[in-house]
Amino acid sequence: MNEETIKILEELSKEMDIKIEILSYGWIFKLSKGDKVHYITGNFDINKTPSSKIASDKYATYEVLKTQNISVINHVMIFNPEERKNYIKENNIWDVVEKEFKKQGKLVIKPNYGYEGKDVFLCKTIDDVRKIVKYLLNKNNSISICPFYEIKKEYRAFYLDGEISLIYEKEKPFVIGNGKDKIKDLIKDLRLPHNEIVRNNLSKMDLEYVPRNSEKIELSWKHNLHGGATAKVLKKDDDIYKKIEELAIKAGSALDITFATIDIINTNNNELYVLEINSGVATGIFSKKVENGRKLAKDMYRKVLEKVFEI
Ligand SMILES: Nc1ncnc2c1ncn2[C@@H]1O[C@H](COP(=O)(O)OP(=O)(O)O)[C@@H](O)[C@H]1O
Ligand SMILES: [Mg+2]
Repeated sequence: MNEETIKILEELSKEMDIKIEILSYGWIFKLSKGDKVHYITGNFDINKTPSSKIASDKYATYEVLKTQNISVINHVMIFNPEERKNYIKENNIWDVVEKEFKKQGKLVIKPNYGYEGKDVFLCKTIDDVRKIVKYLLNKNNSISICPFYEIKKEYRAFYLDGEISLIYEKEKPFVIGNGKDKIKDLIKDLRLPHNEIVRNNLSKMDLEYVPRNSEKIELSWKHNLHGGATAKVLKKDDDIYKKIEELAIKAGSALDITFATIDIINTNNNELYVLEINSGVATGIFSKKVENGRKLAKDMYRKVLEKVFEI
């Protein structure tokens, strides 16, 4: 758990008369109040174990939602032939991969247990597809291939026990040219996170390039806050709020999950799809970078603790 979230939980524990102990080098948070004890290990213990496990696996989430007719982005499962060699012949995976590429043109390929946009690749040629599938199968038991969706906006809904407490929209990181500054200077104002994902994205760009006046340069095709995307709280009276809320509630209850964030995309054709569900809820960057974000995150965790301790 990140520092900001730990501080929020410590503050709430004080306010709510909950004792908090940190065990196992910071991995376990033990919360106790009276004779009740609860643990947080990245995940709160209000989710049933199978629901958390389904949420942590992108393909499993897809299938659970799809079979309940909930709009979700398409996934095709690729098992690692090494791990599953008694069940699946390697030939099959390349047939499946090629067929998907021919059908879709562009593919997004990702580990089923990924997070923060790590190792999520957009492939536009069959050579890229083959290279990335091989690369990912070297370190993952299974991966998913998805069609590339043209995303207009991506949203994150905070789901707790059948209700949505907060939705924010994410925007990919970008700079706007002024005809004189280089990309490397324009990005200084963005205060991008210092991490490998950002370094990787920037390494693929010509940072010396001077964008024309008003030219928009996107720094990533992904919407992860860890990659520098920005968040903006969605107002309840925004037209799309109700639609996102409705789909997120359907998805949360379909997974039989209690506490999770539900990521939803709105495509250029104005179609909504669930992208993924996370039971390990993260608010670190949101708290730090969004105006009033810390208070909103704290209010959200307060509701979770009230639920956990049945207050
Ligand atoms: N099929 C897709 N089409 C277009 N963009 C995608 C697709 N899948 C993922 N993305 C982009 O990549 C980002 C990371 O993918 P995601 O599946 O959420 O993995 P992670 O768990 O690593 O965040 C998403 O936020 C989205 O912007
Ligand atoms: Mg994601």
